[in-house]
Parts: sequence; structure tokens; C-alpha cells
Amino acid sequence: MTLFEAACAVRENAYVPYSEFKVGAALRAASGRVYTGCNVENVAYPEGTCAEAGAIAAMCAAGEREITELVVVADSPSPVPPCGGCRQKIAEFAGPEVKVTMMALDGTAHTVRVADLLPGAFGPAHMEKR
Ligand code: THU
Repeated sequence: MTLFEAACAVRENAYVPYSEFKVGAALRAASGRVYTGCNVENVAYPEGTCAEAGAIAAMCAAGEREITELVVVADSPSPVPPCGGCRQKIAEFAGPEVKVTMMALDGTAHTVRVADLLPGAFGPAHMEKR
């Protein structure tokens, strides 16, 4: 199963009564294993979580810490980009050269490096004067 297929499959489980916008994410970790997540909304809107956050949580829960590839998919007119917060979450576990592929359900894709997804990212080096 490709990451696109895994993301499409998990997207079906998205809980989206408020936006009705289903998102699926699938990532490959250093072990080669694939972890998936979907968006889970809440009546207290800010408490909702993104698909990427779910996939990252599943990876961490399994004891892994390194993303080697990530795909996000939604039924968008163009490949769906990760939100700003998810870009920071991805950068926590993926090096600057890791590829993030944004996709639409029809398979249209746009791939970018993490470094280009979040230029000027806040990172551990910014806390070195502590
Ligand atoms: N959403 C994601 O799951 N990932 C993204 O990268 C973009 C936005 C979700 C959050 C919310 O449930 C819905 O899409 C509409 O914003």
C-alpha cells in the first residue's frame, strides 16, 4: 500500500461534523512502518486536531521519533497543504530534506521539502542561551 492509499483509507475515518472536510495523513517512519491519522473535530472548535497531528501521535505512541516521508490528502481542488501548526509539528520529527507530499483525492500531487514548508523554523538552536 502506498502512502497515498493509506492516507485515503484513514481519511474515511475522519470525524468532521463541523467542517465536513475530511483529511488523511500517512507517514513513513525510520523503521519503514507507516502511521496514519485523520482529523478529529470537537464542538469546542479549537480542540479539534489535524490529520497530521494524529499520524505523528501514532508514530510517537509506537516509540518512533523520525519521519522519512509524509503524505496528506483531502478532497480539495488542489493538493491540500498542511496548516501552519502542522508544519511546525512535522518539522519536530522530520529533517529539512524530508519530502512532504500534498495531494488531492484525484491523485494530483505537489511535493516540497520540509525546509521549504517552514522556512525560518523555530528550532532548538534558538533556545541555546538558556
Ligand atoms: N485540517 C487537517 O486535518 N490538516 C490540515 O493540514 C489542514 C486542515 C483539518 C482541520 C479541520 O478539521 C478541517 O481540516 C478544516 O480546517
